[in-house]
Amino acid sequence: MRLLWKILLVAALLLPGNAWGEFSYTGDVKSLTKDGSGAGLTLSNAKLRIYVVKSNIIRIRLTREDKFSEVPSYAVIYDKKEPVQFSVDRKRGMTEVKTDELTLRIDENPCRITFLDKGGNILNEDEKSFGMSFDGEEVRCFKKLFKDEKFFGLGEKTGNLSRTGDSYIMWNSDFPFYTKATDPIYASIPFFIGIRDHKAYGIFLDNTYRSQFSMGAGSDRFYWFGADKGELDYYFIYGPDPKRVISSYTELTGRMELPPLWALGFQQSRWSYGSEEKVREIAKQFRTREIPCDVIYLDIDYMNGYRVFTWNREKFPDPPRMMADLARQGFKIVPIIDPGVKADDGYFAAKEGLAGDHFAKYPDGSPYKGEVWPSWAYFPDFTSEKTRAWWGNNLSILLDAGVAGFWNDMNEPAVWGKNVPDIIRFSDGGYQADHKKIHNVFALQMAKATFDRLSRDPERRPFVLTRAGFSGIQRYAAMWTGDNYANEDHLALACYMPQSMGISGLPFTGSDVGGFGGTPSPALFIRWLELGAFTPFFRAHSCIDTPDKEPWTFGAEAEKIARETIRMRYRFLPCLYNEFRRSTLTGLPIMRALFLEYPGDDECYAPDAQKEFMLGDSLLVAPVLSEKDILKKLYLPEGYWLNIWDHKHYKGSQWIAIEAPLGQIPLFLRRGAIIPQWDAQNYVGEHENGEVEFSIFPGESSSYEYYEDDGISRKYKDGAYALTNIQVSEDKVGSVRISISKTYDRYDSKVKSYRLRLFATRLPAEISVNGRRLERCESEKSLMARTEGYAQAGEGVILIKIPAGSPIEVNLN
Ligand code: GLC
Repeated sequence: MRLLWKILLVAALLLPGNAWGEFSYTGDVKSLTKDGSGAGLTLSNAKLRIYVVKSNIIRIRLTREDKFSEVPSYAVIYDKKEPVQFSVDRKRGMTEVKTDELTLRIDENPCRITFLDKGGNILNEDEKSFGMSFDGEEVRCFKKLFKDEKFFGLGEKTGNLSRTGDSYIMWNSDFPFYTKATDPIYASIPFFIGIRDHKAYGIFLDNTYRSQFSMGAGSDRFYWFGADKGELDYYFIYGPDPKRVISSYTELTGRMELPPLWALGFQQSRWSYGSEEKVREIAKQFRTREIPCDVIYLDIDYMNGYRVFTWNREKFPDPPRMMADLARQGFKIVPIIDPGVKADDGYFAAKEGLAGDHFAKYPDGSPYKGEVWPSWAYFPDFTSEKTRAWWGNNLSILLDAGVAGFWNDMNEPAVWGKNVPDIIRFSDGGYQADHKKIHNVFALQMAKATFDRLSRDPERRPFVLTRAGFSGIQRYAAMWTGDNYANEDHLALACYMPQSMGISGLPFTGSDVGGFGGTPSPALFIRWLELGAFTPFFRAHSCIDTPDKEPWTFGAEAEKIARETIRMRYRFLPCLYNEFRRSTLTGLPIMRALFLEYPGDDECYAPDAQKEFMLGDSLLVAPVLSEKDILKKLYLPEGYWLNIWDHKHYKGSQWIAIEAPLGQIPLFLRRGAIIPQWDAQNYVGEHENGEVEFSIFPGESSSYEYYEDDGISRKYKDGAYALTNIQVSEDKVGSVRISISKTYDRYDSKVKSYRLRLFATRLPAEISVNGRRLERCESEKSLMARTEGYAQAGEGVILIKIPAGSPIEVNLN
């Protein structure tokens, strides 16, 4: 009997298709060749390639094919410019690749990879028994899980920021009203950060197939990541500062361009403002109620039977006239564009698409049709350059009519019945691939088509909003978190998810304020609006068949608070805009998890500390994430902090609870903070913003680089901008010195005067500007009417007004 079992077992292992039989490891290192970019290794069962990308970035590729794929990456755009110094040494049983910062050790029998820092400390290593392996077509990488290792990132994931102990799938999925536990949803960003002993590294798996990240889920021994097919192709990025990991990751996958300034304003949407009359009515309400708003969205009902690039002429008889009129009131119109092209013989886009061979196909060459809003529809093959250009040309129809940007939706791509069949063929830039490979980058390539069309115009910056995406999507689009719901879980997600997306290289993000589905209470709506006012993307949106959710629909008291909250957003616009600009240079998030600023402070990783965030590096925002609470418990990291509302000072490294009535989102300035603000306005460009106010909480010594440009054209890319440096220092007896000087001046600044709102430790006896003594005014109001002077503006607050110029030296003694 025992023998029979043994025979059966051996037979089972030999049979093709058996899961065990398909599992294989890399085996040993057999040979090694060095070259200018790294090294190539032949293993018993695979080929391995090591590329030294930068001194802190090493790329690992593994394949079982005869050669490595030549198909370019969709995500990585980095092309190495400067040579990197590195060495490759093979000693007995081991190969070492060394850069100035990083050592990659490859143990040879069997092949296992270890990354070490300069001091020889292990940062990350393959799991000793499993390492890299194959399971059928799947590729996997098993990494040792260290005690206390924390994981963050992976883009748009539900739950809080921590990814430790859970498993995640990358497969762009339309999941309306997802919950805080749903996975996957719309976007796939296969990049995460690991942190241990306050040292961070990142791993980016550059593989577009469905992939999985099992971050110690059900195992205290390893974590693993892998993909259904393709190469194991990953980048190891060393920090040790987590912000540097993000900067390096976005050096590989690209960074956002500056959006038009209006895209930072408040935006109003619903499914749908379905007629010209309704759109005009909404616009009128905003202006008569003096609630600032820059953008109104058109959801699917503006089209003729959901045919992209068309208008429902009955409901929208004259779109150019409507948009021209609205533009005069300061409104920009952004229409939704779904990828599905209605399969209708009489419809020009379907005819053009078929004639030009622009649609994804079945293997027999016939165009694929899937069902979405317009019923049966063709799906453009955005992986083909010619199709992207065709799509872009058709976008001109809407641009010529006056739209200001595009909202890409259903671009997972979503179809009724959930899945586009795996066998559907795409051009893959000429290399040919099936839907399994292209699914996750469909939205990325659609956004590219849209962005490329918009960037043909040097006078106008592209604005694209997307629901789905893949690594690199930050180059083309802002992303919102899809179909959320009006409840507290989703209010919390609206705080967590954009933070996680920021960690994952996507800075321009936000949620449907007020919840897409359901009906928020006035308090829930206000709390959401308060949070939204500090998320990079700030749009209210709601589902069909939900009651009106515009800011004036929750009663007079809520309307008043909503108005003030949105006005506050507009006051913070220059601060936000400066953070956007920094993000274009560094790839860092605008809405920033606390631990990114304070990686050495263990408390900043705590789940409760994820319920607050930094805007840039100086403003701490602690949204109230409940409709009933009027207190907020929050953590202040190391240093000193100032509550913006009551000007109270706090020592950091402690949890505090403060009062936070409706309309008063807790905001704290870090000591040393310099934050620019403008007066509120009803829309970007309503006034010229001749005065900029710097809120200053003086520290020993700090500085700020204030950026200005025209806010709309792409001329900034050719250097048409201005930079003003503000230096602030406070000595031991509380004397403050502020120096302002233009450091770069190729934009004609509109700023006529500066206001310095100083949170001082003591009232100065004298204030002088460039040696001239300033006069003290009775009140803030009387100061506003003058060109210069100063006034006390509340307890511990001094407001100074001076004409703009350069250089300026202000002394408070
Ligand atoms: C999807 C979008 C939502 C939009 C709706 C109708 O559900 O996520 O924002 O309103 O489609 O177009």
